[in-house]
Amino acid sequence: MRVLIAYHSDYGNTKKMAEAIAAGMRAGQADVSIDLHTAEETSLQDLLIADMIVFGTPVHMGSMAWQMKQLIDRAAKLWMEGTLEGKVGGVFATGGGFGGAGGGVEQTMIALHSNFLEHGMLVIGFPKSMPGYADGGLQWGPYGRSGNHEGMPDTVPDAALTAARSYGSHLIEVARKINA
Ligand SMILES: Cc1cc2nc3c(=O)[nH]c(=O)nc-3n(C[C@H](O)[C@H](O)[C@H](O)COP(=O)(O)O)c2cc1C
Repeated sequence: MRVLIAYHSDYGNTKKMAEAIAAGMRAGQADVSIDLHTAEETSLQDLLIADMIVFGTPVHMGSMAWQMKQLIDRAAKLWMEGTLEGKVGGVFATGGGFGGAGGGVEQTMIALHSNFLEHGMLVIGFPKSMPGYADGGLQWGPYGRSGNHEGMPDTVPDAALTAARSYGSHLIEVARKINA
């Protein structure tokens, strides 16, 4: 199975989550090959050759980073052709999370799902029974809160990386069932 993980990361938090998802996908899965690319270096060909596409972004002003949106808009050509139809998609995010309502992460992840659904892809969420979910999970996918209680940048906690790893293995398991 060929997987593309495309993400944006200015300060490394979202990249850490991407790497943890990749580690979870690789665990015990010899036939999984993973292309880990930034959104900006991701080509349309990368999207086309992947069986599974995973998008990750930091929350920027309540929505996805523009670099991720730019990739989504570049891929509009593939919507015209319908060439992503039937592929499996997953999402993840990080954010400062200042305040009591997640700083916009929910609508950010829903926007990534909406894009996959527009292409006719199958979106895979994150079940609450998975390891790490209680601290790093949302129903759309893993989330790492990287800000501290003063609203300043910190780092994603280990619990979020645990969630990211278990999401990676969950994606592979579900994709195998779909393609069985
Ligand atoms: C321009 C900008 C806007 C941001 N806006 C938000 C926001 O609306 N909500 C939030 O929770 N975090 C926000 N943050 C914090 C980032 O989402 C957070 O630091 C994230 O983990 C950074 O990921 P990275 O280390 O992969 O770049 C913002 C950060 C930047 C640089």
